[in-house]
Amino acid sequence: MHVVQHTAWDAPAWPADPTTTSKSRISRPRWLTENIVFAQHNLVTDCSFNEFHLVLCRNVLIYFNNSLTARVHDLLYESLCPSGFLCLGDKESVHFTPHGDCYEEFDARGRLYRKIR
Ligand SMILES: C[S@@+](CC[C@H](N)C(=O)[O-])C[C@H]1O[C@@H](n2cnc3c(N)ncnc32)[C@H](O)[C@@H]1O
Repeated sequence: MHVVQHTAWDAPAWPADPTTTSKSRISRPRWLTENIVFAQHNLVTDCSFNEFHLVLCRNVLIYFNNSLTARVHDLLYESLCPSGFLCLGDKESVHFTPHGDCYEEFDARGRLYRKIR
């Protein structure tokens, strides 16, 4: 999973298309990358290191067994600030996890959950 963390910044007006795409690559404007910290985070071995407003963790948990999935859900829960959003993959859910009742379904189709307790 890649982690991106915004630093305090004054964002310029958001362009209609923040990325410029070509056939082989996507490039991001410098003003955007300069204000984001990119870091690698191993869901199996690393701990929570911040409280995020949004965590996107799509299509990873489907590869993990039950105990590892439960551990990662602990990590995701700890990594979200109150009212923070968690986005999972199409085949993933917070239901039947140790923190299932700590989220409300914000957008069922998008697998987007909001931390409520
Ligand atoms: C099927 S891809 C999904 C990629 C992307 N999230 C998506 O939905 O298109 C699974 C991703 O899980 C990442 N991954 C596998 N094990 C991981 C771990 N222990 N910690 C963090 N990421 C992991 C892989 O690097 C890969 O990018």
